[in-house]
Amino acid sequence: MRKAVTRPRRKFKTARLVTGEFDEKPWAVKHPRLKWERSIFYGSIGVGVAIGAIICYQAYASVTNHSYCLVLEDNFQKIDDSVWSFEIQRGGYGSGTFDWTTDDPQNAYTDAEGLHIVPTLTTETTDITPEQLVDNHVLNLTTSGQCTTTGVDNCSIRSNKTAGAIINPVRSARLSTKGKKSITYGKVEVVAKMPQGNWLWPAIWMMPEESKYGEWPRSGEIDIAESRGNHGDNYTSGGRDSIIGALHWGPIPQADGFWRTSGQHRVRRTDYSQAFHTFGLEWSENYLFTYIDSRLLQVFFIKFNDKKGKMWERGDFGKAIVNDSALFDPWSQTGRRNTPFDAAFFLILNVAVGGTNGFFPDGVGNKPWGDKSLMAAKEFWDGRGSWYQTWGEGSKRGMTVQSVRMWQEGACV
Ligand SMILES: *[C@@H]1O[C@H](CO)[C@@H](O)[C@H](O)[C@H]1NC(C)=O
Ligand SMILES: *[C@@H]1O[C@H](CO)[C@@H](O)[C@H](O)[C@H]1NC(C)=O
Ligand SMILES: *[C@@H]1O[C@H](CO)[C@@H](O)[C@H](O)[C@H]1NC(C)=O
Ligand SMILES: *[C@@H]1O[C@H](CO)[C@@H](O)[C@H](O)[C@H]1NC(C)=O
Ligand SMILES: *[C@@H]1O[C@H](CO)[C@@H](O)[C@H](O)[C@H]1NC(C)=O
Repeated sequence: MRKAVTRPRRKFKTARLVTGEFDEKPWAVKHPRLKWERSIFYGSIGVGVAIGAIICYQAYASVTNHSYCLVLEDNFQKIDDSVWSFEIQRGGYGSGTFDWTTDDPQNAYTDAEGLHIVPTLTTETTDITPEQLVDNHVLNLTTSGQCTTTGVDNCSIRSNKTAGAIINPVRSARLSTKGKKSITYGKVEVVAKMPQGNWLWPAIWMMPEESKYGEWPRSGEIDIAESRGNHGDNYTSGGRDSIIGALHWGPIPQADGFWRTSGQHRVRRTDYSQAFHTFGLEWSENYLFTYIDSRLLQVFFIKFNDKKGKMWERGDFGKAIVNDSALFDPWSQTGRRNTPFDAAFFLILNVAVGGTNGFFPDGVGNKPWGDKSLMAAKEFWDGRGSWYQTWGEGSKRGMTVQSVRMWQEGACV
């Protein structure tokens, strides 16, 4: 996942590392859709990371004698507004996702299983007709007073058949603890079951409370667990049989070092929609890792105080030349090796649908839209005959969260 960044119209021409790693690669010239386009590479390192997990035990065993203070425990008897806020908008959050996020109880509700975040078709859960969805209808969350962000495009859209602009065809939900619960170092454990259905993108992740080092990805992003609802047998990049964890960090969106700090864990003959699993994060000044069920099953592990140096050096950003000049190091003033992962982060739970940032790579799994298309949302909607039947019935198409626990490192004060 990621927070919104404005999407430049121009192609990114000169992102280049001396090492050649950003050199003329297709994923380096397409901003900001490059984020996940290394996923083939990504999937292959994931296996290594999973196998390496147990070996890593020794790497952190020496540094885990922390005390912790429980700052949040939620078993979702209800959606507690002293903990959670709904983010309501339709703009795709900088990733070009197709869903409109609501606070509609059809999209987020609790029952005996916990919190459900469930995507629904707009035409089935609003008065908007199939004809209005594609032509001459205005959805305006500003005038209805619901939009929780700014920007005409984030908050409203007019469908227009000629232009191929459609009202978001799917509604879903995104809940965050921003301004209510956050930690700077500590632990998070979320017990959840992932959704079933092509092009569903569930995410359990964290963003900085303050963007103290600048706009995304300068102030970082921590992805505890993300998945794709597609069936693993039909989806070579990894569907709901796989979980991805990652840190996003870099001086500019085009130079996101996430591929150096990420992993994917894939299982066989089952998947993460079949049962509840614990998706965890452990984070201190010296290390950070995500895990599934047990701290020994790490998805990725990073040791901040190893010989790779500060995050700036780890990312090799000093060698990058962009627009004929060197990139600026936004982190040097702290002197800490883990900057930007040294500030308060809050938790986000959401289920997005589709998107144009490459999380679902073009050409994999008969994807019905193209990331570069100006009509991607319409192509997605026009292809519903291939995906809607794959969505689970009722809450199975959603992410179910049984519990969330968050601890701050250190003793309670
Ligand atoms: C759109 O929303 C995002 C938050 O998702 C925000 O960061 C961005 O600034 C908004 N765009 C405009 C033009 O206000
Ligand atoms: C939605 O309403 C706002 C405020 O009235 C307005 O500025 C914006 O243009 C409207 N959006 C559309 C698509 O009409
Ligand atoms: C619909 O899109 C076309 C092509 O971009 C444009 O010429 C027309 O003015 C739009 N219609 C409305 C009502 O905005
Ligand atoms: C894989 O895709 C094929 C063709 O779309 C479909 O018939 C089959 O049911 C899918 N398999 C699974 C396990 O989803
Ligand atoms: C590079 O130049 C383009 C075009 O002038 C500009 O949009 C972009 O923001 C610049 N990038 C950086 C990192 O300065």
